[in-house]
Amino acid sequence: MPTQLFERSRGGENALLIQPHAGGPPGEGVVEEFAELARSAGARVAATLTARIDKPSPSILIGSGKLEEVKAACDATGADLVLINHALTPIQERNLEKALERRVVDRTGLILDIFAQRARSHEGKLQVELAQLRHMATRLVRGWTHLERQRGGSIGLRGPGETQLETDRRLLQKRVEMLQRRLEKVEVQHAQMRRARVRSELPRVALVGYTNAGKSTLFNALTGADAYAADQLFATLDPTVRRISLSAASGAVAAEGDARGNMVLADTVGFVRNLPHELVAAFRSTLSEAREADLLLHVVDADDPLRDERMAQVDAVLHDIGAGDIPQLLVFNKIDRIEGASPRIDQREGAPAAVWLSARDGLGLDLLHEALGQRLCLRRVAGAVQLPSSAGRLRARLHALGAVRDEAHVDDGWRLVVDLQLSDAQRLAAQADGAPLRPLLPAAEAAYPVESPA
Ligand code: GTP
Repeated sequence: MPTQLFERSRGGENALLIQPHAGGPPGEGVVEEFAELARSAGARVAATLTARIDKPSPSILIGSGKLEEVKAACDATGADLVLINHALTPIQERNLEKALERRVVDRTGLILDIFAQRARSHEGKLQVELAQLRHMATRLVRGWTHLERQRGGSIGLRGPGETQLETDRRLLQKRVEMLQRRLEKVEVQHAQMRRARVRSELPRVALVGYTNAGKSTLFNALTGADAYAADQLFATLDPTVRRISLSAASGAVAAEGDARGNMVLADTVGFVRNLPHELVAAFRSTLSEAREADLLLHVVDADDPLRDERMAQVDAVLHDIGAGDIPQLLVFNKIDRIEGASPRIDQREGAPAAVWLSARDGLGLDLLHEALGQRLCLRRVAGAVQLPSSAGRLRARLHALGAVRDEAHVDDGWRLVVDLQLSDAQRLAAQADGAPLRPLLPAAEAAYPVESPA
């Protein structure tokens, strides 16, 4: 599929938003979040109407009186698109389109549209296209002919829609099958890569958080990578994975290849309220970075008035994808927006539970390194050791870990100044030729007794 099909709308459509609710008024922030989603897809919000749906109509979801009101509002505001913050059945969508004489896109269609714009990796693009085609397959029967055909990137029609709607079901099915096969292949490759990372025994950390919390910005700050950050929802659709190193002494990030305090850091897709279940399923493999992490860095916009609610929603999505039990370190980001706030670590039960920082300004990153080090038990040991010439393998392993700071030939061997992670020192010390490292291990944690000098 050519990439231009994922292009963003240039003009920006005029959208009328409908927020259905049952019983009381819509929950706090719900309407606002929906408007933000619409803008994120490139729409201008012409007006927002709420609609009570205590008994959802199987044919048009909303009541007939409300339908008239929506039509009048569309005419008055010149809206050329209706976005509805609810899932619609294909029949409801078709009937609404006929009655309103405008395109109608439901919540799933809207989120898919945003995903289609933002997908960056091969896997992400395949996932979005497959999810879009599946969403569309059930809607191919709709009465498109009565609508003006809008080409070139309109909401709900971007991605594969523009071309595939003009083909028949058989072709669509073929494309779905082909995408499935390709995706399976890519997923196998990614699973292999993940297994390789597991074998490397590096601790795995995944950034999660409500959309726009600042995950990509923090990822960049921690890795120095130029990952993509934009003030729109879902700037990150695909996980980006990097190895990072923390330097124990200064808290600064050490250069790539330097093995001190290594970990694997993954950026993940932004979470939203009620991520449609079919999307959770589509992005299962993308989200597995979070599911398989040793620690989740839960990034929160500290300045968000709905911060507690959004944290709870992220927790709900994590639970949905099977990552609910993974330990979290909270990162309260954007403290530059809070008057008088300065970087700090909140401790709970003797361990860092939250770090307050500004990813954009690089404030408090040292504290995050410190907290990460503590939570991942990245304790280090350093000192001089004497290796006999028979310990060539041990010497090679220390070099491979990047642990050797200084080295000199001495009688019958080498004198090395080393600096390495405690867990690595313990692992090496446990091996047959590891005795020279044992004096480095702290007494309380020494799995092996320090040999007393003869
Ligand atoms: P999604 O991929 O949509 O989930 O977004 P994200 O969580 O990766 O957020 P991203 O890093 O794209 O940042 C969203 C917006 O917040 C951007 O405009 C950033 O510049 C801004 N931002 C990130 N960190 C900070 C911060 O520390 N302070 C301030 N003031 N803005 C920040």
